[in-house]
Amino acid sequence: MKRESTGKKREEELKEEKRKKKTKIEKEWKTRWSGFDGVEIHGAYGYLIDQFLKDQVNDRTDKYGGSLENRCRFALEVVEAVVDEIGAEKVGIRLSPFADFLESGDSNPQELGLHLAKSLNKLGILYCHVIEPRVETVGSVITGSSSSGTPKSLLPLRKAFGGTFIACEGYDRNRGNKAVVENHTDLVAYGRLFLANPDLPKRFELDAPLNEYNSETFYTSDPVIGYTDYPFFETVI
Ligand SMILES: Cc1cc2nc3c(=O)[nH]c(=O)nc-3n(C[C@H](O)[C@H](O)[C@H](O)COP(=O)(O)O)c2cc1C
Repeated sequence: MKRESTGKKREEELKEEKRKKKTKIEKEWKTRWSGFDGVEIHGAYGYLIDQFLKDQVNDRTDKYGGSLENRCRFALEVVEAVVDEIGAEKVGIRLSPFADFLESGDSNPQELGLHLAKSLNKLGILYCHVIEPRVETVGSVITGSSSSGTPKSLLPLRKAFGGTFIACEGYDRNRGNKAVVENHTDLVAYGRLFLANPDLPKRFELDAPLNEYNSETFYTSDPVIGYTDYPFFETVI
């Protein structure tokens, strides 16, 4: 009897804690983050969530390791928690099933990607942002894109995912336009070209020449160069 009432009390306390946390997050979202459109959950490139997803790095023996379902559990729980707080229409996720960045590779990336896409559909999130299989890395540094093409493709994932699909890696203006026109993706994300061209959308619109990126200043912190100092188009001409 006593144990039962203690259990009930704890349940009430947990409910109250959850309610307080929700109110705090809602308040914070309204004040601090009100200018933001949403949250992109980072599930790519060997960071924490990716380390759970990939069978070559996840060696857990609990319910977060082993089977595909178990390895995806943490990612899906994170997504669900964020969806609960701010709404599925404000949530996206970034994934790189094909990459083995920071030793986080998977023996069956296609199956992993498909399972995630289908599971994310149930949570109804806004978008899925996926790194193309062609990214080439050395250690933890992005070194380029395979120009020889790749037998792997994001298309099955794009077809399996019900929301907006964003592809990234190795795109330029023409390749990006072609991918959208041919319905391989809804949107394209740009990394290095955006870094070197702060006004990239305008340059694309005008089909203007681009600043070339300098990979020697990638990932440098001292001195901080190559991040905010590339010239705008007007200042070039
Ligand atoms: C200097 C630099 C820093 C990056 N930092 C991150 C990062 O913190 N997180 C991330 O997911 N991707 C990061 N990326 C990868 C880019 O987001 C993007 O996926 C990659 O550059 C491939 O796209 P691109 O071919 O358009 O450059 C970084 C890339 C560069 C060049």
